[in-house]
Amino acid sequence: MQRINFLDLKEQYLQIKEEAWQAMEKVMDQTAFSGGPFVASFEEKFAAWTGAKYAVGISNGTIALQLAFQTLNIGPGDEVIVPANTFIATAWGVSHAGATPVFVDCTSDTWEIDPALIEAKITPKTKAIAGVHLYGQTFDIDAVKAIADKHNLYLVEDCAQAHGAYYKGRHVGNTGHMGCFSFYPGKNLGTFGEGGGVITNDENYYKRMCSLRNHGSTVRYYHDEIGYNWRMGGIEGAILEVKLKYIDGWNNRRKEIAARYKTEITNKAITFQAMPEWADSSYHLFVVTVADREHFMQYMNSKNIYPGLHYPVPCHLQKAYAHLGYKQGDFPNSEYLAEHCVSLPIYAELKDDAVQQVIDAINAYN
Ligand SMILES: Cc1ncc(COP(=O)(O)O)c(C=O)c1O
Repeated sequence: MQRINFLDLKEQYLQIKEEAWQAMEKVMDQTAFSGGPFVASFEEKFAAWTGAKYAVGISNGTIALQLAFQTLNIGPGDEVIVPANTFIATAWGVSHAGATPVFVDCTSDTWEIDPALIEAKITPKTKAIAGVHLYGQTFDIDAVKAIADKHNLYLVEDCAQAHGAYYKGRHVGNTGHMGCFSFYPGKNLGTFGEGGGVITNDENYYKRMCSLRNHGSTVRYYHDEIGYNWRMGGIEGAILEVKLKYIDGWNNRRKEIAARYKTEITNKAITFQAMPEWADSSYHLFVVTVADREHFMQYMNSKNIYPGLHYPVPCHLQKAYAHLGYKQGDFPNSEYLAEHCVSLPIYAELKDDAVQQVIDAINAYN
């Protein structure tokens, strides 16, 4: 039995090794290490690939969220609605901008933000909704957008897990005011190091983001507002441009694996994420739930398979947010997921025999 990890980055690196080294060498030859032409070139191609007018490359996905909120002038005294079932960084983006995350539960079957619960959380302080396309599956964008429009709120899409995910044929990140991406190495589109990006279709937001990421400056040594050093590195940009050529093929392979899991895993002990007809997932993660997770994990490990956990503690129960006063029982669906979720191995380079090994192991589980 071969060992199967939840994720393995080595194989993909070997596939693009030559091109990657050539791309890095060009950056070094031009000493274009911070921002510069390689980042600009990636931004242009990434915007085109997502169908957005503008893309801004920055240092990571957490900052992408902070940058989006700050560009929208969201700050101290403001509230932003955030799903409790997400990676904590969605909430960090709100907190680092100085605002307060207000958590809301996910649905019991799609595990994405529940639009039916949002309105009850809106107060005079609410400025925005942060929707997350979690695991690469989209949340119900039109339903959430309708609420945002009705209450005059901004919609920020956290697309950190959703490069290549589509909602009713539109690439994610284009419906809200901003779409925030992470290029962390383990993401569907991940760089060598850290990286993030924001897409938008609004020129003013684009210009302000370009300034904020670069010390609040558009002309060197003239600073229009208090800014940051959030530039993307040249090597990171160059690597992303190389990888962008392959992302559709890699995502298609993820879809093939997901389709096999969904049709060939027949063990009723496993519950799949519900996928509405409007969602076209990028399958960043393949999350399932199981009644006795500890038992299941031990069993899988005994079969030399090492699944992941995303995420064992929902945001509202994290110690970092204890001051907000949430308690166990506030968001039953997110809490259920935290206790029962398991992420099956999924990445483009996972071979058919490994997929078969996962399927066979799960079907034999009791
Ligand atoms: C949903 C979500 N939001 C935000 C982030 C933050 O991205 P980064 O790790 O690049 O800061 C991540 C990535 O880990 C994520 O999964």
